[in-house]
Amino acid sequence: MKINGSVALVTGANRGLGAAFARGLLAAGAAKVYAAARDPASVTLPGVVPVRLDVTDPEQVAALASELTDVTLLVNNAGIGGSGPLLAPGAIDVLRRQIDTNAIGPLRLVQAFAPALAAHGGGAIVNIVSTLSWLTLPGATGTYSASKAAAWALGNGLRQELKAQSTELLAVHAAFIDTDMARGATGPKTSPDEIVRLTLAALEAGQPELLADEVTRGVHAGLTAEPPIYIGYGA
Ligand SMILES: NC(=O)c1ccc[n+]([C@@H]2O[C@H](COP(=O)([O-])OP(=O)(O)OC[C@H]3O[C@@H](n4cnc5c(N)ncnc54)[C@H](OP(=O)(O)O)[C@@H]3O)[C@@H](O)[C@H]2O)c1
Repeated sequence: MKINGSVALVTGANRGLGAAFARGLLAAGAAKVYAAARDPASVTLPGVVPVRLDVTDPEQVAALASELTDVTLLVNNAGIGGSGPLLAPGAIDVLRRQIDTNAIGPLRLVQAFAPALAAHGGGAIVNIVSTLSWLTLPGATGTYSASKAAAWALGNGLRQELKAQSTELLAVHAAFIDTDMARGATGPKTSPDEIVRLTLAALEAGQPELLADEVTRGVHAGLTAEPPIYIGYGA
């Protein structure tokens, strides 16, 4: 995947990591960046094309896909955090919203934009997942982790299916990123610009997966520890 000359669509591009992607893609020579947001007026970055998109709205997604037929790079970035104990009342409602936004949203976007990507020779998809695809912080991230685990698994399946049309799919796993979503978190945070820099390099290198920081690499290594990190953590 060459970023220079690509036509990118970034979801949730009005703030946080999505805004950093829009900026970084322009700086890396993307020919056009569609900056999708629930409220396109909240996109303030010069040089991008703001478009309206709520990733949980199937009609909006379908309409956008029939309009933006020149997309060669889809960045599935939009997501919602917030969680709490799985045993708390309300956890199922939170889970439904997070699955709809964080897991079904990216799947819906890939289904809708796969034909455009194929028509331009394959292109690429970036799915922003999380270190929390592999780990639950006790009493804190149960529903969010479940939604990101689903997003990760869906991405793995999509990568296999998209091979036939030469579309690459890069899953980006990161621990805390310094955005609104992680405002209350303590611990090391990576800057959004650094995540973008690493992601664009991984895309150009054709990597299927990016482990963006030390914490993520440690958690990944812990999957095969005894006990595995998802059982031992916080026990
Ligand atoms: N921050 C972290 O520590 C961290 C770590 C690992 C992975 N991630 C992932 O990184 C991605 C970006 O998050 P962030 O840190 O930049 O969070 P953020 O600052 O809270 O931004 C979230 C973005 O997603 C958009 N969004 C939420 N629901 C949407 C929907 N239904 N349709 C369209 N857009 C929607 C928001 O739009 P509005 O302005 O309209 O709300 C906003 O632009 C997410 O997938 C997140 O799970 C974050």
